[in-house]
Amino acid sequence: MALERTLSIIKPDAVAKNVIGEIYARFEKAGLKVIASKMTQLSRAEAEGFYAVHKERPFFKALVEFMISGPVMIQVLQGEGAILKNRDLMGATNPKEAAPGTIRADFADSIDANAVHGSDAAETAAVEIAYFFATTEVHSR
Ligand code: TYD
Repeated sequence: MALERTLSIIKPDAVAKNVIGEIYARFEKAGLKVIASKMTQLSRAEAEGFYAVHKERPFFKALVEFMISGPVMIQVLQGEGAILKNRDLMGATNPKEAAPGTIRADFADSIDANAVHGSDAAETAAVEIAYFFATTEVHSR
């Protein structure tokens, strides 16, 4: 397995539930290292740009409203197979379908307020990391 980086976002619902630490602990226990992080409240333009691939989908407007509704915690995770490992920790997009013990099963309430984001492939991970972090803000050692 290759050493990978992935972009993770703890969404406004999970930040409001005060479970940042519990989610970070899951990353660390799975061998993922936090190598960059920031708490911020996204602007509408930032949220729309981040989810631009979904802009024609019916849920786009609600998704943007939700993502700007409160602060988010954004991090870069590094580890062996980090992209898939993080997706496994997250669970399915719809928390009702998420496997027991996953972040979404434990902390998410609905498909539109589903606690976490994680890049789904190497190409999107690179784009998403660069969207939020300058190279000098990513600390790989
Ligand atoms: P998607 O990229 O399909 O899921 P994932 O976050 O698991 O990679 O969708 C992006 C986000 O859009 C998803 O986390 C929540 C929102 N969304 C909805 O609100 N309704 C939907 O029906 C879908 C598919 C996604």
